[in-house]
Amino acid sequence: MSHNHPVLQWQGKQAVYPPPLQLVQSALVLPEEPPELNGSRLIEGENLAVMSALLADFEGKIDLIYVDPPFLSGKSYRVRTGRKEDSRHPENWKTAEGFQDEWRDRADYLNMLYSRLRLMHSLLAETGSLYLHLDWHAAAYARVLLDEIFGPDRLLNEIIWTYHGPSPIRSAFKRKHDTLYVYTKSKEYTFNADAVRVPYDAATVKTFSSPKAGFGKRPDLARGKVPEDWWYFPVVARMHRERTGYPTQKPEALLERIIRASSNSGDLVADFFCGSGTCVTVARRLGRRWLGCDISPLAINTTRRRLLLEPEAGGFGVWVGRDRQEHHTLHPKIEITSDNLNVEARLTNLEPEALIALEFDWDFDGHLFRSRAQSIKGWRQETINTRLGHSYPRAGNYVVAARAVDAEGQTGLATERVQVG
Ligand SMILES: C[S@@+](CC[C@H](N)C(=O)[O-])C[C@H]1O[C@@H](n2cnc3c(N)ncnc32)[C@H](O)[C@@H]1O
Repeated sequence: MSHNHPVLQWQGKQAVYPPPLQLVQSALVLPEEPPELNGSRLIEGENLAVMSALLADFEGKIDLIYVDPPFLSGKSYRVRTGRKEDSRHPENWKTAEGFQDEWRDRADYLNMLYSRLRLMHSLLAETGSLYLHLDWHAAAYARVLLDEIFGPDRLLNEIIWTYHGPSPIRSAFKRKHDTLYVYTKSKEYTFNADAVRVPYDAATVKTFSSPKAGFGKRPDLARGKVPEDWWYFPVVARMHRERTGYPTQKPEALLERIIRASSNSGDLVADFFCGSGTCVTVARRLGRRWLGCDISPLAINTTRRRLLLEPEAGGFGVWVGRDRQEHHTLHPKIEITSDNLNVEARLTNLEPEALIALEFDWDFDGHLFRSRAQSIKGWRQETINTRLGHSYPRAGNYVVAARAVDAEGQTGLATERVQVG
């Protein structure tokens, strides 16, 4: 098709590329897990600078990018950190700062999106796809930007995700759908139709099961159908079992369909606005390698907690931009008792009810925290276990490090020397 297609213009339109952020690894979580998955990374940092940094290693290498950026809603979102609170009195809820979706104007928002979409295009593999998740606020503008960056012929689907739920709106129809644009980098792209088939609806089954059904091509009822481009999945509401408390959390079923359709086992899946980590958690579950990035430490700690609550989290690295080394505001203390090669470490000075995670490195080298044992609070759990034991393979002097995280995402590191054997 011709290159003469409409392009969106606004005053001050520019794609900016900050210098790449220097990324440093702050932790290796579950270091003994399958090494082929150890390349997965959770990165705390501003995603434009992070993506610039990733170009060196990942340009043209990412098979699937899903992003759910701020929607231009003009709101700021808080994270719910309390439990068992009265839903009718939000003024009493315990919350922490979540993320901002407030912009000077549309141009400010579009500049944010434009630069990042361009970098995502560069990071995608030739056979890769991008899913951009937005709603009525900005979807129409984004479509034109994506046409410019990918080419209008590379639009694979416009997916409508519908849901229901309460809304105060009385002067218009309730706004209950989001729009996902799917663009592929080239004509050759991964699309696993058979991995996402769903049963035909009852009316179709009934029609074609009748021996008199003589019209059209008879579908393979047993195999199911490739879903339409409108999807219904319930939102992650208050009592939903996936609920993490992080605002605007997306349902795992939505990500599962996307990841199954547009990537293969072992592929690299990325989410540069990862929030509570829905995309990377599902990617991990489906045996994909993954990259997750968010600017908010609370989002990164929520994702880390979520991955560690998975029965098989797989090993992953945690990385931070050099400009924002993990700044500890908690001051945990640990007490260690030892018996021959066995030790028990016990957190002594922080309330277990206030914590969401406690991780241990039994042989800390002073630089990279290797998280080898964890006590992680489940989403409906009241408290966590603050004693963990370990058996050393051989006698020696070791440094035990414990990393504590509270519900607001504040962290602290304690270290203690121990002699065993
Ligand atoms: C809509 S939420 C994502 C929710 C996520 N899909 C989930 O299921 O939990 C958007 C996220 O983007 C993050 N974010 C916004 N601007 C960012 C930036 N410039 N760099 C990195 N993360 C950013 C916010 O902190 C927020 O967590």
